[in-house]
Amino acid sequence: MSQGSEKRSILVTSALPYANAPLHLGHILEHTQTDIWVRYQRLLGNECIYVCADDAHGTPIMLKAEELDITPENLIEDIYKEHKSTFEDYRISHDNFHTTHSEENRILSERIFNALQENGLIEQKKINQLFDTTKQMFLSDRYVKGSCPLCHAKDQYGDNCEKCSATYDAVELIDPVSVISGTKPIIKESDHLFFKLSSLKEQIINWLNNSNIQDPVRNKLNEWLEGDLRDWDISRDSPYFGFEIPNYQDKFFYVWLDAPIGYLASHLNYLKKNDQEAKFEEFWNTKSNGEVFHFIGKDIMYFHTLFFPVMLSESNLKTPNGVFVHGFLTLNGDKMSKSRGNFISAENYINTLDADYLRYFFASKLGTGVDDIDLNLEDFRQKSNSDLVNKYANIASRTAKFLNNNYDGVLSNELDQPELIQEFLDKSEIISGLFEDLEFSKAIKEIMSLADRANQYIDSKEPWVLIKDEINKDKVHSICTTSLNLFRIITIMLQPVIPGFTKKAFAFLNETNISWKSMESPLTGCKINDFNPIITRIDEDQINKLLGS
Ligand code: 2FM
Ligand code: ZN
Repeated sequence: MSQGSEKRSILVTSALPYANAPLHLGHILEHTQTDIWVRYQRLLGNECIYVCADDAHGTPIMLKAEELDITPENLIEDIYKEHKSTFEDYRISHDNFHTTHSEENRILSERIFNALQENGLIEQKKINQLFDTTKQMFLSDRYVKGSCPLCHAKDQYGDNCEKCSATYDAVELIDPVSVISGTKPIIKESDHLFFKLSSLKEQIINWLNNSNIQDPVRNKLNEWLEGDLRDWDISRDSPYFGFEIPNYQDKFFYVWLDAPIGYLASHLNYLKKNDQEAKFEEFWNTKSNGEVFHFIGKDIMYFHTLFFPVMLSESNLKTPNGVFVHGFLTLNGDKMSKSRGNFISAENYINTLDADYLRYFFASKLGTGVDDIDLNLEDFRQKSNSDLVNKYANIASRTAKFLNNNYDGVLSNELDQPELIQEFLDKSEIISGLFEDLEFSKAIKEIMSLADRANQYIDSKEPWVLIKDEINKDKVHSICTTSLNLFRIITIMLQPVIPGFTKKAFAFLNETNISWKSMESPLTGCKINDFNPIITRIDEDQINKLLGS
């Protein structure tokens, strides 16, 4: 991603979580990755607005509300409050967390649909689908099971077979059964609206050539683009919880049509709340200098790279500058699964440990690859204790007490080894580039080698020995001041990753309004506060509690 001297205007999003269940650590992984990048951009002084929303529409949400005997509106409202508070617990710094069930989103979805229609990109076709006569509803692929039309394996969903990997149409299933009512569905015809994706290959390729996309993602897209693109069914029949399509009775926008438009709607809602509504058209104009980056998981690449960019370009709106894709989260080497007991809810974790340990762990694993990331709990405990406590926080705890006890908490005017500070600053450019390029694990390695260097410096100076002789008083003062400045540089570098722990560190250093550049001006001659431990060790009991044992 680009780095110029001009202040950038960036809009960043994470995928919108469905409003039918609590958040899990997979959501937290994605939002942490996004949040680190956002906080890093803000630290540089760029304008970086981070928006998200609950993805509130679709059949699963409608059915979940029915199961709970409440309205979908009530369900999404309850879940919204829960999601918002969980994200806050994890220090995810959304500027706005909205919902796709909003007026802004309805208006923008209609606007984009109308623009596509005016451009001849919407086509009406009759299709056959399975229909549950008991529930009086059409069944999407995940709500119907039967035997595979190819290998005859039983209990397969309506789109593909897990046994032989065949893909097929749900009406081809042998002996289909509705997952909702358990009855045999009939085949019924209905009019549907299709977005003519097949005619937009050139536009997609054009977007792809001008966007920031990781190599493995680009390769996958090229594979899709080599084949034929199927037109995309963007309508759903009633009953459906979503937005009704104007001028089409009982037809609703498919949730995946209005969900990504929810990014724009959340941005608009944010601007309205800040009396800056006029900026919306300016930002989303095709000639805009603004930049948009989406962070998503690898399962939803198709929607974000094939459909969404051309929905925007063909509506005369700005397209994303980049889509950043991450892998899934596994736990102790296995897929997370509630039923198999290999699962940690976002709530359970936060009731046990501070979010920053996990944020740090995720950062130490994240790069630009799309491989899965494993949360091995023993690795997690060891890394937290050895890196955060023994290496990072230790730099401050080893020297702070000398400053507090012998110099009234006032730093010396002279530094003992200014060239060591310069060495750290020289490294900061490399580290900054790694954050920019989302190479967080590499950035963490570099930062930890600086922490090692700072600890070696303290070891070699032995202030605890020198302090015994009054003659060394000034020397010890400047050694401790130098150490604390090394700690401060590392603290600034870690601020995007562990904002909670570093907040305590900045309070100890008596500092507010930090920017990345602040590290260039060392702290000398000023008063610091009393030192209180910033990070505590994680013990085995806490780890056991995470898994509920
Ligand atoms: O896969 C999901 O969880 C979707 N709710 C993500 C939507 S992202 C965006 F396009 F809205
Ligand atoms: Zn099969």
